[in-house]
Amino acid sequence: MDIEKISSQLGWLPGPLTRIIEKRMKKIPAVKKMIDAENAKTMHALEHSLKPYKDKYERHAALPSAGISRDKILADIQQMHDLESNTWKDGYVSGGIYHGDNEHIEFLNKVYALQSQSNPLHSDLFPSATKFEAEIVSMVATMHGKGRTPDNAEVVGTVTSGGTESILCAMKTYRDYYREEHGITAPEMIVPVTAHAAFDKASQYFGIKQIKIKVGPDFTVDVNEVRRHVNGNTICIVGSAPSFPHGTFDNIKELSDIALKHGVGFHTDCCLGGFVVPFAEKLGYPVPVVDFRLPGVTSMSVDTHKYGYAAKGTSVVLYRSAELRHYQYYATTEWPGGLYNSPTLAGSRPGALSAACWAAMLSMGEEGYLRSVKAILETADKIREGVKAIPEIKILGNPVWIFAFASDTLNIYEVLDQMSKKRWNLNGLHKPACFHIALTLRHTQPGVAERFIQDLKDSVAYVKAHPGNKDGLAPIYGLASSLPFRGMVSDILKRYLDAVYKV
Ligand SMILES: Cc1ncc(COP(=O)(O)O)c(C=O)c1O
Repeated sequence: MDIEKISSQLGWLPGPLTRIIEKRMKKIPAVKKMIDAENAKTMHALEHSLKPYKDKYERHAALPSAGISRDKILADIQQMHDLESNTWKDGYVSGGIYHGDNEHIEFLNKVYALQSQSNPLHSDLFPSATKFEAEIVSMVATMHGKGRTPDNAEVVGTVTSGGTESILCAMKTYRDYYREEHGITAPEMIVPVTAHAAFDKASQYFGIKQIKIKVGPDFTVDVNEVRRHVNGNTICIVGSAPSFPHGTFDNIKELSDIALKHGVGFHTDCCLGGFVVPFAEKLGYPVPVVDFRLPGVTSMSVDTHKYGYAAKGTSVVLYRSAELRHYQYYATTEWPGGLYNSPTLAGSRPGALSAACWAAMLSMGEEGYLRSVKAILETADKIREGVKAIPEIKILGNPVWIFAFASDTLNIYEVLDQMSKKRWNLNGLHKPACFHIALTLRHTQPGVAERFIQDLKDSVAYVKAHPGNKDGLAPIYGLASSLPFRGMVSDILKRYLDAVYKV
C-alpha cells in the first residue's frame, strides 16, 4: 500500500474526519515509516533543485577566519547572477521580473548605491527617505482616486516591504479599529477563496477568523454568499483586482457596496492591478473601477515592486482616512530605549528601496506606464487569440493579462511539465488544476507571445501522444492537490523551508 492508494481511498471523506484519521494513522509505526519514506523521497528531489550550487561554490557554514577578497566575492556573485538571469531576461518566466531592461535596472542600482545606508526609521538623519516615501504614497493614492472621490476622502497610506506586508497591515488595522471603535473581540474577515494567501497569513498572525467564500463559474467571488456571511463580528470584506491564480476581477463595486451598507471595511487587493488598471482605464480598455472612487472601498494594497517597476521590496497600503491609518501605527511611550514609533511591521527599513521605488515611478511617469500597459495588453490579446486555436486548452474566467490554463481532456500538469522542458517557468495551481502566466514587459519582446503559443501547441500535442508520463512534477502536483492528508502536505512545505536554510 502506498500514499497514493490510501489517498484515493480516503478522498471522499470530509476534511475534519481525514485530519483525525491522519493524526491517528501517523501514530502507527508502519504508516509513519511509509510517510517518512515518502517525505524523504520528495525532499531529496526538492533539495536537489533548490541547491544547484552545492558543489560549485565553497560553502560557508561559519564565518571564514580571514575575510575573503572583495574581488572574489564580486566575481562569484556576478557568475551566479549571470546563470540566473537568462531565463527571465528571455521572457520565459511568469511574473517575477516585471520590467527587466538593463538600462532600467542599472538606473535603479545607481539610486540604490547612493542610498544604501538610508533608514526611514531615522527620519532626522535621512529626510530624503521621508520625502521619497510621502511622495510614493501620494502618487499611488492619486492614481487610485485621491482627489476624485465622492466624499473628498483624504486617501493616505504607508510604504511597506511588499504585497504581503501591505495586506497584513490592513487586516491588523481593521482588527484594531473595530475592537476599539465597535467593541468587536471575535473579528471575522470575509475573503474569496482565490484571494492571496497573505490574507490567510493575516488571519493566522492576528487571530482573525477567516470566512472563505467560493467563486462562481467565472472565477469571481460569489457576491450573494458574501452578503449572506456578513454579521456583527465582520470587520472587513476583501476583493481581488485581479486575483493571483486566475487574473479575474472580483465584483469590487458590489462587494464594497455591501461593506458600506453594513459599516464594515472593504479592502481591494490591487497588488497585481495597481499599476495596470488605472492606465488600462486611461487607454480605454473596459476595466472596472476598483479604487477609492467607490465609496465603500476603505483600503487598498498596491505593489510598486510588481508593475510599478521598482526593485523588489516595496508596496503601498492605502486607507480612505488618516483615522483608519492610525490603527496601523505602532507607538510606545514606556520603553527605556526612548519614545518609539513605526508605521509598519518592520523597525529599521531599507531607505534605498524607497529611493529606488520613487526613482522608478518618476522615470516612468504616466507616459511610461501607459506605454508599458498598452504593450502588455496587446501581448495578452495575442495569447488569448493563440489559445483559441488549441481546443484542448481553455482559459479560466475572463482575465485581462494573467491567464490560467486548464484542460477537460488532458492532465494539465503534464502539459506544464512539457512547457518546463521548453524553459518556461510557469506557476502550477490547483483547485481546479491549472497553470498560469502573469504577463509582464518581458513577454512584450518580439516573438515571445508567438513562442509561448507554439510551445503550448507542441506541449499539448506531446501529452496527447504520450499521456501519463511520470518523468516530471505532474505526479507530485497531482498528489499534492488531491491528497486528503493536508497536514502531510503542509509538513512538506515546511520541510522545504528547512531545506532552503540548509548550507
Ligand atoms: C493579488 C496579490 N496579492 C498579494 C500578493 C503578495 O505580494 P508579495 O509577494 O509582494 O508579498 C500577490 C503576489 O503575487 C498577489 O498576486
